[in-house]
Amino acid sequence: MLQKMIWTEAMYGTGDATVDEQHRKLFDLINAVLDHLDQKKTAGETARAWQAMEEYTKTHFSCEEDIMEKKKCSACDANKKAHHIFLNSIERLATLFKTSGPTEEFGKEFQKFISSWFRMHIMAIDAKLRETA
Ligand SMILES: [Fe+2]
Repeated sequence: MLQKMIWTEAMYGTGDATVDEQHRKLFDLINAVLDHLDQKKTAGETARAWQAMEEYTKTHFSCEEDIMEKKKCSACDANKKAHHIFLNSIERLATLFKTSGPTEEFGKEFQKFISSWFRMHIMAIDAKLRETA
């Protein structure tokens, strides 16, 4: 079983209710992809869950960037750069998925990347929102 994303205030809280709510929704969509991989759903079904996750990630990133800009957050530029790098990585994984399909190996690689990236990113960058008004 691939380990799922569990949002807790202590670990992922940013002090901004909108960002926190979007992170929870994003974790749900990531978990849906992980569930599809666990349950060995077809490539087509898994690709649809992936698409939903990827689209919402983009929506969330631009919304979060606007919030940081409005709040004059010190991590604003670093956040935009990190989001850009993440989207490149997720595209690389999407390409890998297209060639390998929903294999166990792909599931492990995706889970490892996504859990470590969000843990680091939210704690190191998004949490800077706590320092804003
Ligand atoms: Fe972010």
